[in-house]
Amino acid sequence: MSRPIRIAPSILAADFAKLGAEVAAIDAAGADWIHVDIMDGHFVPNISFGPDVMKALRGASAKPFDVHLMIAPVDPYIPAFAAAGADLISVHVEAGAHLHRTLSLIRGLGKKAGVVLNPATPAAMVEPVIDLIDLVLVMSVNPGFGGQSFIRASLDTIRRLDRLIGERPIDLEVDGGVTVETAPLVAAAGANVLVAGSAVFKGGPGAYAGNIASIRSAAEGAR
Ligand code: DX5
Ligand code: ZN
Repeated sequence: MSRPIRIAPSILAADFAKLGAEVAAIDAAGADWIHVDIMDGHFVPNISFGPDVMKALRGASAKPFDVHLMIAPVDPYIPAFAAAGADLISVHVEAGAHLHRTLSLIRGLGKKAGVVLNPATPAAMVEPVIDLIDLVLVMSVNPGFGGQSFIRASLDTIRRLDRLIGERPIDLEVDGGVTVETAPLVAAAGANVLVAGSAVFKGGPGAYAGNIASIRSAAEGAR
């Protein structure tokens, strides 16, 4: 099964002073999903924003909101992000003691569920919950900040997950250091959803469509 290439700009790299306009601009520029990074200053060493800000952005785009929760504990906040308009909610393996329960909670709220693997987390962690998920997100940087360098060891994790997923309807997403240069590597390894922050938002709104198209064609050309 060939999963379609999707580009998911991370609004962590947007101009926070005009976030609604930035979401509308990446939507118009061809983003497939809107990637929303939620950081708590505890699970990761940075703080972004919470469900009320996300809810305010929901009106700026009808595209799927792909919510990446970097929060621990995570369970208490999942209903708020579901209510704020998330379409996909992804949680780190390390974000709670009961991953199976957390994924069931997300699906019970009618949302698509994803598992996130840090660069040092093995692909095999997904095996026991594979029938509970719609998405696996492989971190190719240590989570917390945009603009970091791509960690090449993540390619091996992507390849292993591609084999593990097989024909299941599960998207394989990669996040961190994705650029025109690294997009072919992750696509060839089997990733089909490419998160990109700096590489999409560089150059301002006039450059977004070209940036997204370049990453997309680099990925599609490598499959
Ligand atoms: C990092 C976030 C990423 C980040 C990616 O913790 O999960 O989504 O914004 O930024 P770039 O594409 O600049 O590496
Ligand atoms: Zn992210």
